[in-house]
Amino acid sequence: MLWSSLIALVLVARNAEAIHTLRFACSQLVTERLDPLVNPGKNPSPHMHQIVGGNAFNTTMDPSNDIGETATCTTCTFSEDFSNYWTAVLYFRARNGTFKRVPQIANQNLAQAEGGMTVYYISPDNTTSPITAFRPGFRMLAGTAENRKPESGFVNLYRCYDSYDENMFFKPNPMGIAATDTTELPKSFCGGGIRVNTFFPTCWNGVDLDTPDHKSHVAYPDRGAPCPATHPVEIPQVFIETIWDTEKFDKSLWPEDGSQPFVFSQGDPTGYGHHADYVFGWKGDGLQKAMDARCDVYDASPEPLIFPPEGCPHLKTQSQKVANQCSQRQVAVEPLDEWLDALPGNMPITYS
Ligand SMILES: *[C@@H]1O[C@H](CO)[C@@H](O)[C@H](O)[C@H]1NC(C)=O
Ligand SMILES: *[C@@H]1O[C@H](CO)[C@@H](O)[C@H](O)[C@H]1NC(C)=O
Ligand SMILES: *[C@@H]1O[C@H](CO)[C@@H](O)[C@H](O)[C@H]1NC(C)=O
Repeated sequence: MLWSSLIALVLVARNAEAIHTLRFACSQLVTERLDPLVNPGKNPSPHMHQIVGGNAFNTTMDPSNDIGETATCTTCTFSEDFSNYWTAVLYFRARNGTFKRVPQIANQNLAQAEGGMTVYYISPDNTTSPITAFRPGFRMLAGTAENRKPESGFVNLYRCYDSYDENMFFKPNPMGIAATDTTELPKSFCGGGIRVNTFFPTCWNGVDLDTPDHKSHVAYPDRGAPCPATHPVEIPQVFIETIWDTEKFDKSLWPEDGSQPFVFSQGDPTGYGHHADYVFGWKGDGLQKAMDARCDVYDASPEPLIFPPEGCPHLKTQSQKVANQCSQRQVAVEPLDEWLDALPGNMPITYS
């Protein structure tokens, strides 16, 4: 069952969409109130994040410090990916007004500790120029924490799983967009979890490793269009997949009026303000070589499923068990598993 599901996934990607995909698991590194991209040096940062990747993650991550060289372990199954990926954290607001962090669940057959995330680097088959991997010091931000309204295009796509089976065996349409996917938090009860995929931009200006807003150096092209002249360099489509385990927050605990009870850590009950941060930290040039070789790797821990059949020798892997041993203690200490009177940082809930 597992294998046929995986092969179905591969076929979807390889034929219908003509893309190459690196898909791999990353376990939780730490969940805490730090944001070295948007609030470097600030301990604590305004709201909670959940972080995966290399153990060079810190309050301040100076771009002059090549984290691919300074980190000593990573929670990802590609053992040379010391990048950090982080997002806001989902909370449940009970009928009585108190909050509880929603845990994450591992994706399908992957064995991410504490749920973690699944990371994708996708390159289309058919690009006008070769895909350019990121350089040391590169970072970017997807989404806007303050957003509460739909925008043109989307950064986040949500999927409501009715049951764990539906979640585990990727129904419907695992890699593509299902008609039922939404750009806001689902309004109904999701007994198998809420999945959110957060997409980073795919075009770069080729000059700046970062910009003050962490966005202007990169761009989202119009759907299907080539990169704009201002941002001509095609970079891999990075997106990260998180599955929030909403099963135990059943409707008996929801507000009496039945309104959806989940809220992101920056006080966002809509889901439009969900956001993700990326700090590049691959060691060496393995990522560029994997892009050039058009490798496809579908991480099926403990054995990755790799195309071409001769493998992707540019990418070193480690077992999920080893990856799970990499973790950090909270630097900005906040309770993780208690009922709380307010969101960490007293973030107010705002609807507009
Ligand atoms: C984080 O930064 C502090 C202060 O500069 C330093 O003492 C500590 O070793 C750093 N931790 C890691 C994991 O790099
Ligand atoms: C609020 O509701 C939750 C869920 O029913 C419960 O576990 C918690 O103890 C309640 N807190 C207070 C202060 O009543
Ligand atoms: C590749 O690009 C060509 C020319 O733009 C287009 O006709 C073709 O459909 C594309 N193939 C795929 C698999 O996307």
